[in-house]
Amino acid sequence: RAPETVSPTGQATGAPPAAVAQSGAYLTTAHGTRLHDTDHSLKAGPRGPVLLQDHHLREKITHFDHERIPERVVHARGSAAHGVFESYGTAARITRAAFLAEGVRTPVFVRFSTVLGSRGSADTVRDTRGFATKFYTDEGVFDLVGNNIPVFFIQDAIKFPDVVHAAKPQPDREIPQAQSAHDTFWDFVTLHTEATFHTLWNMSDRGIPRSLRMMEGFGVHTFRLVDAEGGTTLVKFHWKPKLGVHSLVWEEAQIAAGVDPDFHRRDLADAIEAGAHPQWELGVQTFPDTEDQMFQGIDLLDPTKIVPEELAPVQPIGLLTLDANPSNFFAETEQVAFHVGHLVPGIDVTNDALMQGRLFSYVDTQITRLGGPNFPQLPINRTHAPVNDMLRDGMHQTAVHRGVAPYRPNSLDGGCPFVAGAGDGAYIESPVPVPESRKVRDAAASFDDHFSQARLFWLSMSEPEREHIAAAYSFELGKCYEKAIKERGLRVLANIDGELCRTVAEALGLPAPEPTVELADPQPSPALSQVGRTWPL
Ligand code: HEM
Repeated sequence: RAPETVSPTGQATGAPPAAVAQSGAYLTTAHGTRLHDTDHSLKAGPRGPVLLQDHHLREKITHFDHERIPERVVHARGSAAHGVFESYGTAARITRAAFLAEGVRTPVFVRFSTVLGSRGSADTVRDTRGFATKFYTDEGVFDLVGNNIPVFFIQDAIKFPDVVHAAKPQPDREIPQAQSAHDTFWDFVTLHTEATFHTLWNMSDRGIPRSLRMMEGFGVHTFRLVDAEGGTTLVKFHWKPKLGVHSLVWEEAQIAAGVDPDFHRRDLADAIEAGAHPQWELGVQTFPDTEDQMFQGIDLLDPTKIVPEELAPVQPIGLLTLDANPSNFFAETEQVAFHVGHLVPGIDVTNDALMQGRLFSYVDTQITRLGGPNFPQLPINRTHAPVNDMLRDGMHQTAVHRGVAPYRPNSLDGGCPFVAGAGDGAYIESPVPVPESRKVRDAAASFDDHFSQARLFWLSMSEPEREHIAAAYSFELGKCYEKAIKERGLRVLANIDGELCRTVAEALGLPAPEPTVELADPQPSPALSQVGRTWPL
């Protein structure tokens, strides 16, 4: 008796779904009994009371009553599309991931989202955008769960509930921060100044993309790629849109939110339907996997820092094309479940404390959102690789497992002591040394610089972009009720740039403070002239 996992239709789980939700020529109950009337309840006479006996009535209304599932705790509003990823093969030297070998085509599902608004909120609000990609590879699912901004608000996942609570609608009025009081958001980001750089990206034109087709995407964290010999390279993932990066101006965003709250969702679906299939190149910045995991003085485990592309160019490794809209929003866009821990052989995580917390959070929230632990069986989440796991039963189980011994080794189900090695395509965690053996809550000292990359970003902006940024800070900080928060906001801006601080201070009618850190003008890095430091592929 070979142990197997099969669906009720006899297919191995992981195969595409065979069942079609609506089939047959007649309307039926959920259990297949033919109906003759779905418009009138069963009554004691044409004008009489409705009978409890009416199973069809009760089934129809009960099912309707339970149609809604909880929306995502963050990234609730999303739009998605199917597509294909074609690998150039340029990363094959540094990873054994089979889908990154030359010419391999992998089906993908991509969900774009805003972070803070609820499912029905407007598309064009100022916010970070999610850019989550599910690669259905032959070796299992790989999810690249990224954003359109390359850094994050916080350095440690333990603060994630706090930053989200600070930015979500007010607890008493349920009014979104974006349209009313802004005090808790600005209170948080001015007290937790590691958020300065991400907030600056939000206040820039990147916070209001023109189209989902015109956004960059970033894996944010540093990942570890593992080659066929076990050698490792640290990388940061980047999506570069073929259409270029374009933004709305604030007035356009405001008008679009009013006249067409579905502006981005419509644009994506219309473009794909019209055959204008959006494309992104996936690229990596590569860094040697040194003991300290630093590159040119930048801590690669700090998710509030970028590595400037002048220091490590983005090297293209494949092309993503989105070519089909979902046919059912609920079954696909709503039920898809991404997870940073969905990895394939050749791609590993790092010790970034934000990334490590995410590895716990996603499956935990999805157990609530998708009603139990069996959501990997939902069609949109199913891997295209064969599944032979030892998970059994649970809410919403749809597989019928065979065999009697869901443990390994066993002497009953064919006696198969099934343990795969790297040669069999198994996932092997790279045996990186754990750097410290003391228990500590403190972060590394290299996490303390909260302003110099924000200044670098500001200095790289054109004059119109600077005007937009100053206007955005003036508008948003101007919405705070608490003067102390506005003043603290100005103290943060003083540490980015004097001109920015003075412009916003004038708009707020407050004095411009002096910086509390030394404002260094970034010099061209000596590394730029050192060929070979960035590991060309
Ligand atoms: C959802 C990105 C940090 C918890 C999402 C989604 C994206 C995303 C794109 C939407 C996925 C979808 O379309 O379904 C990121 C990025 C982060 C980050 C780029 C930092 C670099 C965190 C952290 C936590 C977290 C630190 C928690 C400790 C969640 C949760 C969801 C979510 C609970 C909802 C998932 C669901 O209901 O399916 N995130 N996130 N995220 N994120 Fe994050």
